[in-house]
Amino acid sequence: MNLMSVRGVNKTFNAGENREVRALDNVNLTIEEGEFLVLLGPSGCGKTTLLRLLGGLESPTSGSIEFESSSSIHQDRSPIGFVFQEATLMPWRTALSNVELSAELSGIPAAERRERGLALLDLVGLSNFADKYPRELSGGMQQRVSLARALAHDPPLLLMDEPFGALDAQTRDTMNVELQRIWLESRKTAVFVTHSIQEAVFLADRIVLMATGPGRIQSITEVNFPRPRTIEMVEEPEFREIARKLRLDMGAAHDRAATLGG
Ligand SMILES: Nc1ncnc2c1ncn2[C@@H]1O[C@H](COP(=O)(O)OP(=O)(O)O)[C@@H](O)[C@H]1O
Ligand SMILES: [Mg+2]
Repeated sequence: MNLMSVRGVNKTFNAGENREVRALDNVNLTIEEGEFLVLLGPSGCGKTTLLRLLGGLESPTSGSIEFESSSSIHQDRSPIGFVFQEATLMPWRTALSNVELSAELSGIPAAERRERGLALLDLVGLSNFADKYPRELSGGMQQRVSLARALAHDPPLLLMDEPFGALDAQTRDTMNVELQRIWLESRKTAVFVTHSIQEAVFLADRIVLMATGPGRIQSITEVNFPRPRTIEMVEEPEFREIARKLRLDMGAAHDRAATLGG
């Protein structure tokens, strides 16, 4: 079933001195309920802008973004959980009370919040760190807390903007495996931004490849491998073939931009 529709979306930013940046040009996309969608593309192609539009943090210059499924609009809670590129935890709050924050803001009662917070810390593998402060946690652990926090008010849609971009390669692999496990357990609809082809192929049901000048969708690729996937699987021929196709699509976009003088 279709959770969300993006129709003919354009987004233009004013870059001062009468200069405009066309961050998104005629973006059309449907997001299926329960899928893991990845937005992939080079820096500046509008990934963050599209994610912020999906999350309602920004509005389109023209076009529309709509929830289609009524199951996504339950109670008064925000239908969105957002994980930003940098962990944005409150330094004076423990891991648990950071996780409880969004539930707090959504008006969920204290006892329920606490129970849910502990269950979520358990889900992200941090049940022994509930009373630690962010400074006492590694970067990977902080992003796990951010993920738990994003899930705390039980939103149907989880949006993640390069959440593991600042982590070293090995920690990132571990986090991707963990994220897949968490997603398989929670079955949220997920939209995940990355500029890493490998990360995209590992995580995605569908990959939306974006291109720059102006920011737009270049191609959409399905990844039909069974789950749970392992990091070793990305070396298998079928995975490599998809990565190769994505690299070709990226190259084609680059060449087109060069021909157009962009
Ligand atoms: N608030 C803003 N004001 C002006 N320009 C912006 C703003 N946000 C993004 N842009 C521009 O829009 C384009 C797309 O940016 P962004 O969505 O951040 O791309 P990505 O996340 O793919 O790197 C870039 O050219 C960027 O400079
Ligand atoms: Mg970005």
